[in-house]
Amino acid sequence: MKAIRGAITVDKDSPAQIKDAVGQLLSEMVARNSVNSDQIVCIMFTNTVDIKSYYPAKAARECGYSHCALFSSAEPEIVGSLERCIRVMMLVESDKMPSHVYLKEAVSLRKDITKIINIALDGPAGSGKSTVSKMVAKRLGILYLDTGAMYRAIALKCVRDNADYCDKDAVKNIVNKLNLTIDYKDGKQITLLDGEDVGELIRTPQVSLLASYVSAYSFVRTKMVELQRRIASKFSCILDGRDIGTNVLPSCEFKFYLTASPEVRAKRRYEEEIAKGTNLSFEDVFKEINERDFQDKNRAIAPLTQAADAILIDSSSMTAEEVAEAIVTKVRENM
Ligand code: DC
Repeated sequence: MKAIRGAITVDKDSPAQIKDAVGQLLSEMVARNSVNSDQIVCIMFTNTVDIKSYYPAKAARECGYSHCALFSSAEPEIVGSLERCIRVMMLVESDKMPSHVYLKEAVSLRKDITKIINIALDGPAGSGKSTVSKMVAKRLGILYLDTGAMYRAIALKCVRDNADYCDKDAVKNIVNKLNLTIDYKDGKQITLLDGEDVGELIRTPQVSLLASYVSAYSFVRTKMVELQRRIASKFSCILDGRDIGTNVLPSCEFKFYLTASPEVRAKRRYEEEIAKGTNLSFEDVFKEINERDFQDKNRAIAPLTQAADAILIDSSSMTAEEVAEAIVTKVRENM
């Protein structure tokens, strides 16, 4: 018999959120431990006192776990405890080492017994990395680290300070005094430049192209890679970028290289731009994608290339859900 531990937090004390969270937590525990339902002996829950609207055990029964013994109770009120947290212990008939699962804010709880998972997702612009990364992060209850946002923030700073990206010393000066912070709110990345959330401002075509140019400087990469490694060493996350599998985390367990034909990638970006209300032509977007591809693949330091041990996924005729499903399945199989 083995005991698998787990915990998850909810943003709001509502029956719908509690049911969702319990379902997500239990299915993740079952998937990561390759447990069959007839191996589950019992599931015991506790919850912090601020959860009052639904019994986690009832939610588990409704999620299909009624064949085993279920129990839930409230914890004492402890000062400084995590808010709206559901903790669980699942007893299973198994000899395997348990893989404990802590999701959302609960990742901070038991770093001593949980394994940090890092997933590297590299590929060219428009291959669908960020859409897929968000889906994978949500399904696995891990963070999404958008590394491109860091290079984009430097590019935005160059625009704001009127620094010419070709002037190495001017860019170096910007990087030396850079005030860039990556934070998370409700599981979403917040990119703060000089204390301001620049999440939207870094998405213009001008900043995109400039980011590709400034990211070629070695001093830019050294600083950003250091920050990326620091975040990845502390949190389970999927990192998307150009050099994650080859350079940032070369010994990462899960590496994927996502691509699609230049026409398909340009079409996706073009549709995004149209949805935003910009009046760029398809030709403009196609030209920008090709220019960025060339620049990203041909720079001297950490160019975009598939790591030898990365799994190649061509998403030209796949939906983002299909790509995310392929990644989640592969990760769960090898956890
Ligand atoms: O993924 P993105 O389009 O947001 O990235 C913007 C630019 O930043 C991209 O053209 C190349 C650069 N980049 C990089 O060099 N290394 C990364 N890990 C991520 C992005």
